[in-house]
Amino acid sequence: MEGINFNQIGLSFKGSGSYVPDQVLTNQKISEKVETSDEWIKSRTGISQRRISGLGDNVTDMGYKAALKAIRMSKWDIETIDLIVLATSTPNDLFGSAPSIQAKLGAHNAVAFDLTAACSGFLFALITASQFLKGGNFNRAIVIGADQLSSYVDWNDRRSCILFGDGAGALAIETTNEFDNFIGFEMKTDGERGSFLNLPSKNNKDSIVDNIDFLRGGFSPIQMNGQEVYKFAVKEVPIILDKLLKKTNYVSGQIDWLVLHQANQRILDSVGDRLKIPRDKILSNLKNYGNTSAATIPLMMDEAIRNNIIKQNDIIATSGFGAGLSWGAALIKWG
Ligand code: UT7
Repeated sequence: MEGINFNQIGLSFKGSGSYVPDQVLTNQKISEKVETSDEWIKSRTGISQRRISGLGDNVTDMGYKAALKAIRMSKWDIETIDLIVLATSTPNDLFGSAPSIQAKLGAHNAVAFDLTAACSGFLFALITASQFLKGGNFNRAIVIGADQLSSYVDWNDRRSCILFGDGAGALAIETTNEFDNFIGFEMKTDGERGSFLNLPSKNNKDSIVDNIDFLRGGFSPIQMNGQEVYKFAVKEVPIILDKLLKKTNYVSGQIDWLVLHQANQRILDSVGDRLKIPRDKILSNLKNYGNTSAATIPLMMDEAIRNNIIKQNDIIATSGFGAGLSWGAALIKWG
């Protein structure tokens, strides 16, 4: 920690970036498609509109644009980036989209790979990158969260289609031997409850030759038990954040900003209340973007950093949660 004789590898946050597609889908527009209303969606979720990728932007494009902004803020020479981790559940190449982002950036010296953990994806990617950096093998990493759930939403299912949108965000992190702004983390999964939220494969039987069948790959739309996911989030997120605070010797009063996965305003408020964190410290932009899955946390952070809400040395408690089920938390200091 700062002020103490520091002889290990610490991390410093150097930049942030985000990108959302241009197309705006308002609640009003959704109500032309399914039986719902602006009033219902706003009061149950806090969401007013979301952005939808059209033909123009896929996950690689969105992730690239967010990453480039983070790199510009960090003022890094692109050749000095060692690692790119892309959190996504909707790659435009199932073999991995991170290397295409590496190529678009011209980050020739980096290794790039995808990581899938749905709405916890960015947090898990951040933790993964932090461990590579602290392990001493790499010095500079870009962590990206990008998702295009609009391609997998059942737009006839009013219980889920109202929630999701598309977008991307990224953070630039580097090692330092002077302090450690990555204070601690916790992460968990529970596959037993995995059926609450899925984007399952849908395989159609086909034949290669006589008597040799195979399953042609594809996916069914998102299936969600909203009430169970809601209950899971408001129970587990405060528990894991509390555990993290105790482990790192912090108390909730020291948190400047709570940056939760932007799923539902009622979830954000409930988690804040349980941790006794005042509402004005809970950052929220889901009104404008809905749930952008792996993108919500860096999208929120980038907006707050660029608007000078999150400032140098602010303490940020962040938590991602969602399909898997998966959830996690990290405590960081900005800068
Ligand atoms: O990253 C994690 C992603 N997932 C989540 O975050 C989901 C967490 N869950 C939620 O956010 C909430 O459960 C929802 C917003 C999805 C649903 O809100 P709810 O208050 O849990 O509603 P509900 O499922 O209990 O449904 C209440 C009523 C039902 O009608 P009946 O059976 O009481 O007559 C639904 O059919 O609201 C109805 N309903 C709707 N009505 C108008 C469900 N969706 C809609 C809709 N518009 N879009």
